Amino acid sequence: MADAVDEGTEATDPPASPDKRGKTVHGEAANAGHRVLAPDDAEVEAYLETALHAPAPDRTSGEGDPTAEAGPIVVLDFGSQLAQLIARRVRELDVYSELLPYDTPYAELEQRGTRGIILSGGPNSVYDDGAPKPDAAVWSGRIPVLGICYGAQLMAHELGGDVLPADRREYGPANVRITRDDGLFGGVERDQPVWMSHGDSITRLPEGFQATAQTDSTPFAGLEDPGRGLYGIQFHPEVVHTPRGRDILRNFVVGIAGVPQTWTAASFIDTTVAGIRDRIDRHAAETGSDGKVICALSGGVDSAVAAALVHRAVGDRLTCIYVDHGLMRKKESELLRATFERDLGMNLVMVDARHRFLARLAGVEDPEQKRRIIGDEFIRVFEEEAANLGRIDFLTQGTLYPDVIESATSETKAAQKIKTHHNVGGLPADLRFKLIEPLRYLFKDEVRKVGVQLGLPEAMVLRQPFPGPGLAIRIIGEVTAERLDTLREADWIVIDEIKAAGLYRSLWQSFAILTPVRSVGVMGDGRTYANVVAIRAVTSEDGMTADWAKLPYDVLGKISSRIVNEVPGVNRVVYDISSKPPATIEWE
Ligand code: XMP
Repeated sequence: MADAVDEGTEATDPPASPDKRGKTVHGEAANAGHRVLAPDDAEVEAYLETALHAPAPDRTSGEGDPTAEAGPIVVLDFGSQLAQLIARRVRELDVYSELLPYDTPYAELEQRGTRGIILSGGPNSVYDDGAPKPDAAVWSGRIPVLGICYGAQLMAHELGGDVLPADRREYGPANVRITRDDGLFGGVERDQPVWMSHGDSITRLPEGFQATAQTDSTPFAGLEDPGRGLYGIQFHPEVVHTPRGRDILRNFVVGIAGVPQTWTAASFIDTTVAGIRDRIDRHAAETGSDGKVICALSGGVDSAVAAALVHRAVGDRLTCIYVDHGLMRKKESELLRATFERDLGMNLVMVDARHRFLARLAGVEDPEQKRRIIGDEFIRVFEEEAANLGRIDFLTQGTLYPDVIESATSETKAAQKIKTHHNVGGLPADLRFKLIEPLRYLFKDEVRKVGVQLGLPEAMVLRQPFPGPGLAIRIIGEVTAERLDTLREADWIVIDEIKAAGLYRSLWQSFAILTPVRSVGVMGDGRTYANVVAIRAVTSEDGMTADWAKLPYDVLGKISSRIVNEVPGVNRVVYDISSKPPATIEWE
């Protein structure tokens, strides 16, 4: 493998087009480093990020286009950190929505069968030099448009109204008085709490528009020209602080744009499975191959759901490979085998590579070096196993929609880019398979819904994120078989008690860390000198920022006494009360 990095050596060559890849949390080009900002499960693609020079994969011949039946609602991204949230809110209405760069040509929007366009907010003022603007044809009235915040200001400004800096910036909760009771505001009470976040305000409406909502600070908190299908609102309907935001979005999407609410987990599965089957059959017929597919299972939800979809499409033509690197949590490998082999009847190759990983990790303390070794060894094992399977044409990956958006959006476009991702484009160039990425249209919570619908066990589908390098980065210092056993037992107790207290799903992550610190204790009549285990439990929306969880004392107490009593070699438990930032979620 051309791009493998040996332990102990630094990668010296820069990755291909680092400018297209974004930065890791350490400021390195994504894919070159490890520890990227995006949260994920222990997905195999995280390992594949060691491929430094791999070009971004070609996604032109994908399967299962969810827009095939009803065109999408397109959210044009003007750089708001809430842009993705708008798309998610539309999808919660069972309508497919996608996020595209603000300057997507109108012809492309039409070609995609777009049924409605939402202009997101953004950090700019319409008067800024180089303020982002959409293709002017969006104002043509052929496809209905809803402008939110900056999007509404653009609508007013571009069509001949006035937008001026407000006397005071309006940020936070506000009350609007709705002055129309149809269209966007049908069924919504006149006085509404909403969430505002803007510096500029619309001060004069363009010709043909009428005001639809007002606040104390602006008479134009809403505007519309229904004849042309143009609607604008100054506040944010996508955030929970705008309680009727969902109804307003529904009025636009279903009422005004007329899109049927048919995009559900079940319909996604039907379309996707048919699309995958069709693509593989066509390829097999054209090339005279068997159309065989492999998928690397990691234990994470993404690869599990992706594999289950492909299996439903082509059955035995799929083989899953699970590399047991020995860094997984207790009973995880067993669950994987039971689910995929016994319950779903899939071809599963389980590779016991525990000794290989341990041998390469021996004596290694540096976290980044651990990541590199694990990534590199993973690819070696995976390639060896794949080579044993004969001709394989397709590789299934659990790439998600946020990964796709972020690898497609250049840094210079949507300005407020806050994270980047390791999964997309990280594929080794010499793994010459065609990609099947059935989840590339989905957000994480949608993947979970699809997983549940496919009948995967809750323990797999609803689990907390787990890092690719597994327990290796939760053992501070050297990773040994013995220390892994210690951490695995402690981790099991944490999860067990958190679940027993009904807290598992309200936490982003909860786990144990094995510190290299030893402390003195007493047990019975004897003095002990043993390891300190730390507990970390955080709440978070997306892993980008996190708060330490205020776990009840009795839960913490129970975890502590069970660990000290049940896990040999541990005599003290501490609780990590650091938030992110400045701390990270993982300790390494
Ligand atoms: P940090 O520790 O950076 O973690 O606050 C943010 C999220 O990312 C996960 N994480 C990783 N995931 N490979 C992964 O697949 C990694 O090397 C890695 N490091 C951290 C972490 O568990 C959290 O959800």
